[in-house]
Amino acid sequence: MRDVRIIDHPLIQHKLTIMRDRATSTASFRRLLQEISHLLCYELTRDLELEMVPIITPVSMMMAPRLAGKKLVFASVLRAGDGLLQGMLDLVPSARVAHIGLYRDPETLQPVSYYFKSPEDLDDRLVVIVDPMLATGHSAAAAVTTMKAHGAQRLRFLSLLAAPEGLRNFHDVHPDVPVYVAAVDEKLNEHGYIVPGLGDAGDRLFGTK
Ligand code: URA
Repeated sequence: MRDVRIIDHPLIQHKLTIMRDRATSTASFRRLLQEISHLLCYELTRDLELEMVPIITPVSMMMAPRLAGKKLVFASVLRAGDGLLQGMLDLVPSARVAHIGLYRDPETLQPVSYYFKSPEDLDDRLVVIVDPMLATGHSAAAAVTTMKAHGAQRLRFLSLLAAPEGLRNFHDVHPDVPVYVAAVDEKLNEHGYIVPGLGDAGDRLFGTK
């Protein structure tokens, strides 16, 4: 497997099990995804660069670390990406936000673009694309292609669940982009759903089915 980083903290695994259960309510599903996004964000940002700056505490002056460089960009793949976005912003409130509107054509399973809005100066920012389900990998790859076309050069992809074939498809197109994910499931079914998975993340998040 290429650059796939599995973040399998016990709390993530426990919460993911509850999310997978079809009896879990919409409200619980949404809250659990937000909680997991805190833990995923914590790991994804572990190696961010710091710079030392002078500050004055109530007691003395000191050199203290703070995040270096330009603000991060979190790019949410609509609509399920929004389930991860808020938790990411809880931890990095100064991050800029992009939205990428893609839907999967139900027959070809290929992504179709319907919306894009992003900060403009992407070239020297770390861009983290978030989408809870990396299934066929086609939408994930299209989202990265879109961000690269708008100038992004340093990218990471953050997901909750992935299918092995989706990861292969994704890295065939973007071998330079690491994927951070809580679990890699068994396979895709004939409808492009992750098995065993958790069903349609968007529907479960927003209660639309
Ligand atoms: N999208 C989902 O929401 N669920 C899947 O299993 C695959 C794609």
